[in-house]
Amino acid sequence: MQFTTTTDNASAVETDCLIVGLGVDQEFGPGLKALDEAGKGLLTRLDERNELPRKAGKTLILHDVDGVNAARVLVTGLGKSEKLDGIAYVKAAQAAGKALRQSHATSACCLLAEADVKDRDQDWKVRQAALALAHSDYVYSATKKPKDDAAPATGSVSFPAADGVETQLAIANSIAAGIQRCRDLGDLPPNICTPIYLAEIAKKLAAEHDGLEVEILDEKQMAKLNMNALLAVGQGSTNPPRLVRLSWKGGKKGDAPVAMVGKGVTFDTGGISIKPRDLMEQMKFDMCGAATTIGVMEAVAQLKLPMNVEGVVVAVENMLDGKAYRPGDVITAMNGKTIEVHNTDAEGRMILADGIYWTGQKLKPEVTVDIATLTGACVVALGHHACGIMTQDDELADELLAAGTEAADRSWRLPLWDDYQEQIETPFADMKNLGGMPAGAITAGCLLSRFADGQRWAHIDIAGAAWQWGKPESASGRPVGMLVQWLADRAGGWDAIGK
Ligand code: BES
Ligand code: MN
Ligand code: ZN
Repeated sequence: MQFTTTTDNASAVETDCLIVGLGVDQEFGPGLKALDEAGKGLLTRLDERNELPRKAGKTLILHDVDGVNAARVLVTGLGKSEKLDGIAYVKAAQAAGKALRQSHATSACCLLAEADVKDRDQDWKVRQAALALAHSDYVYSATKKPKDDAAPATGSVSFPAADGVETQLAIANSIAAGIQRCRDLGDLPPNICTPIYLAEIAKKLAAEHDGLEVEILDEKQMAKLNMNALLAVGQGSTNPPRLVRLSWKGGKKGDAPVAMVGKGVTFDTGGISIKPRDLMEQMKFDMCGAATTIGVMEAVAQLKLPMNVEGVVVAVENMLDGKAYRPGDVITAMNGKTIEVHNTDAEGRMILADGIYWTGQKLKPEVTVDIATLTGACVVALGHHACGIMTQDDELADELLAAGTEAADRSWRLPLWDDYQEQIETPFADMKNLGGMPAGAITAGCLLSRFADGQRWAHIDIAGAAWQWGKPESASGRPVGMLVQWLADRAGGWDAIGK
C-alpha cells in the first residue's frame, strides 16, 4: 500500500473510496459536511433515518453519491466521544480498512484524522490510520493464490496534505513493511519456513539495505561455542538450527547497540513430551519472536534510525526422533550452567538461554529484549490483547509499556521477583526447565534471567498476541509496532528522526 497526500477537498478528490469517521454523539466533521453539501443533504437524510454507522466497529459504503467525485464513501463508526481513545480509533480505522479491502476499490482517501481522539495529535492520528489501513489490507498469498474475481488490494491511499503528514506517512510505510514481513513469515507453513529459510530471508534483507549486515552461525559453529541448550532442542530434526544476526549500524561506531533476541522455533511438536494433536498446526507460529525481530530490523533499516540495533534469531525445529533430547537429560549451556530437562516442550527457554547469553557476550548491548511465544500460561494470564513483559528493571519496563501504549500495541507487566526462582530448583542441575503449574509464564522468565546476568534485559512473552486465534488464524505482526516505537523513543522520538 502506497501513501500519498492530496490538496483536493472531500467532494473533489478523485478516488475509489473516501473514508470518513462519525461518532455516536458528534456532529458531522468537515469532511462529512462537505460531502453532505455536495450530495444535497443525502447524508443528513440518511442520518435522520439512523442509517449512518455511528457505533464503534460498524461501517457503511455509499456508492455514487451525487456531486462527489469519489466512487464510494465509506463511513466508519467511531463510537462515543468519551471512549474515543487511541485504541478505539485504531479499531475503527481497522474496521474501515476491512470494509475497504472487501470492496473492489483500489485507491482510497482517508479523512479519519479529522476525528478528535483523546490525547492524540494530528501526527499520531495520520500515522496510526495509515498503519491500520495497511494492516487490514493484508491477505496471505504465499501458498494460496487469490481467485480471479477476488477483491484486489488497495494500491494507494491519500491523506489531506498538512504540516508533517508526509513525514508521518513515510514513517508508517516503514513500520508497515516490518509488520507485513512479520506476518508473512509467521503465516508461512513450517515445511517452507525452516531455520535455513529464516537465515536466507535475513541475507536477502541485508543485501537490500545499505547499513544492514548479516551473520549466520550453523550447527558446527554453535557446537564450537558450546551452545548446547540450543543444539539439544534442534538435534531431533533433520532441519538444522541456525543463529541469525542482523546488525543495523545507524549509530556511532563503538556505541553499544540495543539488542533483540527472537525465539524462532519453526515448528514445535513438543518433542518427546509431545503435544496433543488438536491445534498442533498452530505451532508453526512458534517462530513469531524471530519474525518480529526480523520485521523490526527491516523497519529500522528503512527508517534509517540513528542508532545501532542488533536483531538475533535463534532458529530450530523441535521434533522427536532417535536423536531427540529427552526428559531427564542434563544439558550444559553456553555459560556453563546445567539445565535438567523435565519437559522437552519447554524448548523456547532452552534456545533463548544460549541466545541471550551469546548476545550479551558477543554484542555487549546496552540493553537486550527477547521476544518469544514462550508459554501457554501467558495466554491464560493475559489473553490475546497484551504481551507479557518480565524484567527486574523498572525503568526498562516503563519504557516498553509506554511504547506499547503509544503504538496501540500494548503489553502488561508480570513480576519477576526472586520469590519465583525456587520453582526451578532441582537436585540434579543448576536449574530445571519446568517450574510447575503456578505462574508458568514467570518461571520461564526466571530461567531466562539466569542467562542475562549483569545485562539490562527484559523478556516479552508474545504467546497470546502473536497471532489471531480462531478463523482465520493469521499472524498479527505484533509486537513490531511496540518495539519500533521503543527504538524510535530511544533515538529521540519521531520528531528527531523525521528531520
Ligand atoms: N510454544 C509453546 C508455548 C505456546 C503454547 C505458545 C500455546 C502459544 C500457544 C512453548 O514452547 C511450550 O510448549 N510451552 C509449554 C511450557 C510447559 C511445558 C512448561 C506450555 O506453555 O505448555
Ligand atoms: Mn514447546
Ligand atoms: Zn515453543
